[in-house]
Amino acid sequence: MGARSRSRAPRTRVGDARVNPRAGTLLVFEGLDGSGKTTQRALLAQRLRAAGHDVLETAEPYDGGTWGPKIRAMARSGAALPPEEELRWFMEQRREHVRERIAPALTAGRVVLSDRYFLSTAAYQGARGLDAEVILAANEREFPIPALVLLLEIDPAAGLARVGTRGGAAEPVFEKRDFLERVAANFAKLERPYLARIRAGRPAEVVAGDVAAAVRARAGLHSVA
Ligand code: TYD
Repeated sequence: MGARSRSRAPRTRVGDARVNPRAGTLLVFEGLDGSGKTTQRALLAQRLRAAGHDVLETAEPYDGGTWGPKIRAMARSGAALPPEEELRWFMEQRREHVRERIAPALTAGRVVLSDRYFLSTAAYQGARGLDAEVILAANEREFPIPALVLLLEIDPAAGLARVGTRGGAAEPVFEKRDFLERVAANFAKLERPYLARIRAGRPAEVVAGDVAAAVRARAGLHSVA
């Protein structure tokens, strides 16, 4: 193998310790409830693993710490916290998530796929009356910035209908229609260089193709099947 092709190897094997021991890649799925984040995360993980990447799948609210479970219990109870307090809880669960799962995986050179991250805080807590831009900027100062955020865009009514058919525990605080309209408006107005908008609501395999193309083109992971 010539020096030329060897010099290209780092671009195709993110977890290759010989090349760049500390350069993991953080990829995030964002979108409304029912936009298909969890399905798309699984499909992308499959493709990346088939291409030889070492993938960690994770999600927020982060269940492994103390704050994620508190948030879920609050959401199920239907009792809303004051917006500033709710923001604080989501920031706390992210501190645990980054410290315990995300940062160690990135340091180990893995590809981390997270179902939700700080754009959700900007959009959802922004929909409770806080300033979405201020929230986003504070998160960008404190936490690792993703290589790419795949924002799965879906009409709130369609998303709600899909959540309704899932039959899981309802989370009334976060899933009201007018609230989700405001969340969608926040997602629509936030602009970042690391943000890729993908039209959801199409067959999962079609969406997955667009996701893979965005990852190939914009996250430096060229060997995505
Ligand atoms: P969700 O992804 O719906 O969890 P599940 O897989 O159990 O359905 O997340 C729960 C809710 O939390 C969701 O409606 C969005 C909300 N949320 C915020 O309001 N702010 C945040 O920062 C995050 C991460 C989630």
